[in-house]
Order: sequence, then C-alpha cells, then structure tokens
Amino acid sequence: MNKLIPWIAFVAMLCLVGSVSRAQDTANGEKTFKAKCAGCHGPDAAGKPALKSPAIKGKTTDDIKKVISTSPKHAGLKTLTADQVKELAAYLATLK
Ligand code: HEC
Repeated sequence: MNKLIPWIAFVAMLCLVGSVSRAQDTANGEKTFKAKCAGCHGPDAAGKPALKSPAIKGKTTDDIKKVISTSPKHAGLKTLTADQVKELAAYLATLK
C-alpha cells in the first residue's frame, strides 16, 4: 500500500505541471491575440461588423492555420509559429 504513495504523488505532480503549462499557453495566446488579432476581431474576439470580421471565440488551431494560409486578410500572420497558433487556440477556447 505504501508503495502507492509515491505514484500518487507523481501523478498529481504531472497533472499540476500540465495545468500550469496550459495556463501559460493561454496567457501567451492572449498576448499574441491582443497584438495581432484584436485590431480586427475586437478585444474579446466577438468580431467587428464594420470590418466584416467574424467572431473567432473557440476557434481551433486548424481553423487558425487554415485562415492564415488561405485568407488574404491574414497574409501578415504567416510568421506566427506553430506554438503561437496553439497558444492562440488555447486562449480562444477560454472565451465564451
Ligand atoms: C486585417 C484584419 C484582420 C486581422 C489582423 C486578423 N483577422 Fe482574422 N479575419 C478577418 C476577416 C475580415 C475575416 C473574414 C474574411 C476572411 O476570412 O478573410 C477573418 C476571419 C478569421 C477566421 C475565420 C472565422 C470563420 O468563422 O470562418 C479566423 C479563425 C481568424 N480570422 C483568426 C484570426 C487570428 C487568430 C488573428 C490573429 C493572429 C486574425 N484573425 C487577425 C480580419 C482580420
């Protein structure tokens, strides 16, 4: 029974590390969003009708990759790294 305790501690630690790194992704994603997307998609990703930009809350990495590679509006965003796209999606997933 006592042999289980280190394992439980180990698994608990893994969960903790996982959630900290997700929180970090979200924080980085928010920074990138504010710097590169909020101008067109609005500060809360709700979209700006005047610019014909849609709400992008909850968009996934695939949605973002697709729009970056296909939409001329996003031509300036080709320099975003795969990590930045992942972080953006993590942030957008927190918006409702
Ligand atoms: C120059 C203004 C502009 C900027 C900056 C911009 N967008 Fe957009 N975005 C648009 C417009 C306009 C559309 C709709 C037409 C299109 O897809 O070209 C759009 C569409 C999208 C869509 C598709 C939404 C849908 O429902 O189909 C996603 C996802 C998206 N943008 C993500 C982003 C992300 C992430 C960023 C920042 C890294 C960003 N955009 C920066 C103007 C912009």
